[in-house]
Amino acid sequence: MKVLVVDAGGRGNAIAHAFSRSEQVKEVYVAPGNGGSEFFEKCKIAKLNGKNIPSIRAIDEIVEFAKKSEVDLAYIGPEEPLSLGLADRLEEEGIPAVGPKKEETILEASKCWAKDFLKKIGVPIPEYANFDDPEEAKEYIKEKFDNGIVVKADGLAAGKGVYVCDSVDEALKAVDEIMIQKKFGDAGNRIVVEERLRGIEVAFTAITDGKTVKPFGHAKDYKRAFDSDDIEGLRDFYIGLTKKFYTKAQIEQLFKEGKLINPNTGGMGAVSPHPGVNEEIEEKIMEMVVEPIIKKFKEIEGKVFKGVLYPVIMLVEEGGELIPKVLEINVRDCDPGAEAKLPRLASDIAEISMAVVEGKLDDVDVEFSNDCCVAVCAVSGALKGREGLKPGYPADHYTSQPISGLEEAMKEAIIYANGIAKTNGYVTTGGRVLTVVGKGETIEEARNKAYSAIEKISFPGMRYRKTIGLDVPE
Ligand code: AMP
Ligand code: GLY
Repeated sequence: MKVLVVDAGGRGNAIAHAFSRSEQVKEVYVAPGNGGSEFFEKCKIAKLNGKNIPSIRAIDEIVEFAKKSEVDLAYIGPEEPLSLGLADRLEEEGIPAVGPKKEETILEASKCWAKDFLKKIGVPIPEYANFDDPEEAKEYIKEKFDNGIVVKADGLAAGKGVYVCDSVDEALKAVDEIMIQKKFGDAGNRIVVEERLRGIEVAFTAITDGKTVKPFGHAKDYKRAFDSDDIEGLRDFYIGLTKKFYTKAQIEQLFKEGKLINPNTGGMGAVSPHPGVNEEIEEKIMEMVVEPIIKKFKEIEGKVFKGVLYPVIMLVEEGGELIPKVLEINVRDCDPGAEAKLPRLASDIAEISMAVVEGKLDDVDVEFSNDCCVAVCAVSGALKGREGLKPGYPADHYTSQPISGLEEAMKEAIIYANGIAKTNGYVTTGGRVLTVVGKGETIEEARNKAYSAIEKISFPGMRYRKTIGLDVPE
């Protein structure tokens, strides 16, 4: 069997790695992939007329490649090609794809629509309201503010359209940035304003053929850019960002007063399984969240979802019970959660995928091992170069930095590349560069492997969090 994985990052390489472990699979192509896509046996970068596929948005080229290379199955990682209709196009060509059709991506592509839908079908969510008028949103914020509020752009904003606000002023500023300054373009024509929840956040995933839904693993996602005691890291970042000098003491003070924040990222690391989720909670999330979404999406909207559903859950304590409330829905797997989950997948992903596209998921097992994985991301941090000091990920950063130590690190851990290119050696191409995954019987063992391996790697500006897998407040 020949498989095409569509993704440009670490999640795609983790998916490709899972396929490479299947006996049924002879070849795995990754489009566009990156310099780390060929780290695993059977895995190759997709080439069309001798050239790499230019991007995950190059739908025509991806479809042409899939046809020419006669792939038996495609598995689509990111939301962008899904929302551009890649699964629809592949299906028109007779190529089965794991991933929802364009119309079904509305669950992720419109946060306003998704919240209304969840409310209608009775899935627990934070109190919220949708707005297309900034003044009305501001009135609502002033009226409802109680110990925090969250403002979200309606549309796709590459994970950056969410403002978790500690003050009314911050929330009003968020409305201006999204709706008036149009920081995310048309994605900010509407917004959701919602109650800020406090609890245990879970990256939960399920896989479905539209009829049967099975849990597909869960992870704890570490989203803040810096460890909370990493004042030096925050200082370098803010000096790079504002071009002003700060002492450590000043940064500490500004941070305490809430005037500077520890920036949110797409993820700095992940642990799977989520240490706060037991079987009972998993069942509760399936019954209260995932199953109703898939069932009602079909019954009310007539949409049969085939792929991975990833609701972001906050487990909130109410009346002595943990209630799973949905913060948002994604129509794809998480990143770097997938890098932490998929090495634990004990079942055959090719078999699961075929069952998804054929509507036979009920017939196959979707099992994970009892091992733990700790995934630590190495990112492009603050660095002084030809264009002066840059703050580093998640803001502006240098790329094309030479990477060393990969081979040594690979002896101890699994390495999924998020943003690297292969030239003479390997160089960085993005903010998130590598995800180093340790696997062990306990979180501690997995953690030790991941950190021992990441210490072998280096590139100018490299930075990573030291507390992934430690039970510390985010
Ligand atoms: P989202 O893209 O909606 O998952 O939001 C990004 C991050 O913002 C989430 O992973 C949470 O950490 C945080 N967040 C979003 N909505 C809320 C909420 N209602 N209460 C607390 N935190 C939230
Ligand atoms: N790590 C967050 C996401 O994949 O959306």
